[in-house]
Amino acid sequence: MTEDTAVRRIEVDAAPTRFARGWHCLGLERDLSDGKPHQINAFGQKLVVFAGEDGAVNVLDAYCRHMGGDLSQGTVKGNEIACPFHDWRWGGDGRCKQIPYARRVPLRARTAAWPTMIQDGMVFVWNDPEGNPPPADVTIPRIPQVDSDRWTDWLWYETVIEGANCREIVDNVVDMAHFFYIHYSFPTYFKNVFEGTSAYQYMNGTGREDIRAARGGSSPVVLGTTSVAAYHGPSFMIDEVTYHYEDMDVDTILINCHYPIDSNSFVLQYGIIVEKKEGVSDDEAEQLAATTGKFIKYGFEQDVAIWKSKTKIDNPLLCEEDGPVYQLRRWYEQFYVDAAEVTPEMTDRFEFEIDTTRPNEAWRTEVEANLAARAATS
Ligand code: FES
Ligand SMILES: [Fe+2]
Repeated sequence: MTEDTAVRRIEVDAAPTRFARGWHCLGLERDLSDGKPHQINAFGQKLVVFAGEDGAVNVLDAYCRHMGGDLSQGTVKGNEIACPFHDWRWGGDGRCKQIPYARRVPLRARTAAWPTMIQDGMVFVWNDPEGNPPPADVTIPRIPQVDSDRWTDWLWYETVIEGANCREIVDNVVDMAHFFYIHYSFPTYFKNVFEGTSAYQYMNGTGREDIRAARGGSSPVVLGTTSVAAYHGPSFMIDEVTYHYEDMDVDTILINCHYPIDSNSFVLQYGIIVEKKEGVSDDEAEQLAATTGKFIKYGFEQDVAIWKSKTKIDNPLLCEEDGPVYQLRRWYEQFYVDAAEVTPEMTDRFEFEIDTTRPNEAWRTEVEANLAARAATS
């Protein structure tokens, strides 16, 4: 076969069987610290999350080391989780503290406990297949707006994605073109920076008039967006988005985070807070947050529809206007190898700006053609 007739083959390795090292957000503190045990399926296991009287949020393996009872079906008693089978009491440190019917607790009564962190209203768990504690310099940036009266409380959404490895969602960081085809706007500016454990996406977007018209013009007139989004670690993205409306700009912070259930499914969560503008009432700000949340939800659903039917592909065939998919995956790989195997090429600073001139010409033409076709039939 000659070069130009050779068919490009899609290469697909098996999805990784280990899970990323790093902080993973499990949800909001207000939901998980209600004094009840919560079952969370993550990292190929069943976990129990609970807060005792001391308020600390704990994460343990859900299966009781006595005879395998499911602690997530148990009861929080004091600072411990009591197994529903024989009432053994497990502390957040993984030690069995008490067996009400026994003279003494067996010496080796210890189960797996995960390091946790509460920050800005969210509960994080540290996963490390090597079993090491979180290094002090691996942190999640603070979001001071959470504590401000001038911002709304978290609106939080959760959805289970079946049939896809969580790497698919991370690829979005560099995927400039899908914003036009899958979402509602198209990037006029698009740049990525990867460094250390963070991966940034700087994007300015323009709203698609044709989509808005097709939806009956009912969606809010978003003229454009300015967004700085960054993954900090393998699974937690903070996206500072300013929505430019006709009459005002609205600042929002969007969290886009996930944790793997197993290698072929994950829980996607996103949260949003919105700045309460001068002259905008609390109700209006909450309303705006809810509207924006719906907008984002719809955006993720578009992604999910693609993920559900696409194949994993290890050798994407790229054009010049695509973002640095391979470099992003190299950055992401750092979370899947032993800490000692992390190489400089995974963490060294890397910058890439896409020239959006040609895509924007094509997209403006397409939007205008769609609007013209619409005008002709109405
Ligand atoms: S199985 Fe948990 S107390 Fe017996
Ligand atoms: Fe997307």
